[in-house]
Amino acid sequence: MSDHQEAPEGSMILRTIAMPKDTNTNGDIFGGWLLAQMDMAGGILARDTTGTRNVTVAMDSVKFLKPVKVGDVVCCHGEVIRVGNSSVTLKIETWVKPMIKDIRHPEPRFKVTEATFVFVAINEDRKKTKIVLPEAIRQKLALKDQLDQNQAD
Ligand SMILES: CC(C)(COP(=O)(O)OP(=O)(O)OC[C@H]1O[C@@H](n2cnc3c(N)ncnc32)[C@H](O)[C@@H]1OP(=O)(O)O)[C@@H](O)C(=O)NCCC(=O)NCCS
Repeated sequence: MSDHQEAPEGSMILRTIAMPKDTNTNGDIFGGWLLAQMDMAGGILARDTTGTRNVTVAMDSVKFLKPVKVGDVVCCHGEVIRVGNSSVTLKIETWVKPMIKDIRHPEPRFKVTEATFVFVAINEDRKKTKIVLPEAIRQKLALKDQLDQNQAD
């Protein structure tokens, strides 16, 4: 599957390293492990956006683009796509910095997965709750919408 992109969309939220315990029988990293990293990254971005506890309610359009190898540095990037009444929709991408084999010739990073996540803000009773965006986040999202609109024009 070809999905060439020069750089990640959104900001880096989580960075970790792929370990031998996370491999499948082919010796590559499990898709489920990658999804768990993306879910964690989404949870962090959802919390930073809404200021509440959140639960994952949906995961859509998951693409596994390239295999991940043991020793690769795995970076999850994310951005807010939409804020609803109680839900926040996020685009999460995973990029890999390949394990360094020769320091003089480092290989460029590349995208390995992408997906859309929906998180729902919950209250202490674990029920959905209305999102009241902090002013700084509201302004940041409004600015991003404006920039996206300008690029589309
Ligand atoms: C998430 C949960 C609290 C929602 O409760 P609910 O009262 O049934 O909520 P609703 O059906 O009204 O949906 C709430 C929001 O989620 C959105 N939503 C629900 N299901 C969705 C889906 N499959 N895809 C996209 N959005 C969805 C709704 O559109 C709504 O958004 P809005 O308030 O911004 O308009 C409840 O379903 C739940 O606890 N699910 C289990 C979550 C979980 O355990 N996740 C795994 C571990 S974190």
